[in-house]
Amino acid sequence: LLLMLAAAAAAYFLGCFNGAVIVSKYILRDDVRKHGSGNAGLTNFYRTFGGPLTVVVILTDVLKAVAAVLVGMVLFRVIGTQAMETAGKYWAGTFCLLGHMFPCMFKFKGGKGILSGGTIALMVDWRIALVVWGGFLVLAILTKWVSLGSIWAGASFPFATWFVYHDLFTLLLAAACGALVVWKHRGNLKRILAGTESKFSFHRKKEG
Ligand code: G3P
Repeated sequence: LLLMLAAAAAAYFLGCFNGAVIVSKYILRDDVRKHGSGNAGLTNFYRTFGGPLTVVVILTDVLKAVAAVLVGMVLFRVIGTQAMETAGKYWAGTFCLLGHMFPCMFKFKGGKGILSGGTIALMVDWRIALVVWGGFLVLAILTKWVSLGSIWAGASFPFATWFVYHDLFTLLLAAACGALVVWKHRGNLKRILAGTESKFSFHRKKEG
């Protein structure tokens, strides 16, 4: 139990390092959350600022998710089996996602967890990553709605997890992650249905 709590705390803390907030606040002296969709994520960062710093945002969110999953893996490995290692990845991944979405040092206003969640999916199993990322890319490219791809990613994660592991613990954690991601996109979903959701473009227009 102590190990689980330690993994949760470490993963949450790592998750709080929200790339879009950190780069916009401390390098650009602005706040990505005041622009565009108001989301503290890669899409809105690129939409608002663009430029090479986008790479720093990507690296921050990817690396912190990798670190969190590794911490979970290592701490749960102490308990023993391969199944525990997988459980540790999901456990830490979930808390990392919580940190990313609700970072305590940034007034609990974080992102929607696609880049960090997608990294976690990549770290658990390639088949899960294929379902999550494959669907994301197809939908996002075809419709230019990044958020639609993201909703797919969140919704498909628990199903893909069950398909691969047939394990209740990982299913519950994956369902929690998926539900958080979809819930975070509820505004996007409304806009998609209303046809007013912004489409991704490599040609930025300054907003906000
Ligand atoms: O990565 C988040 C994406 O799915 C949607 O972002 O800024 O368009 O709400 P945004």
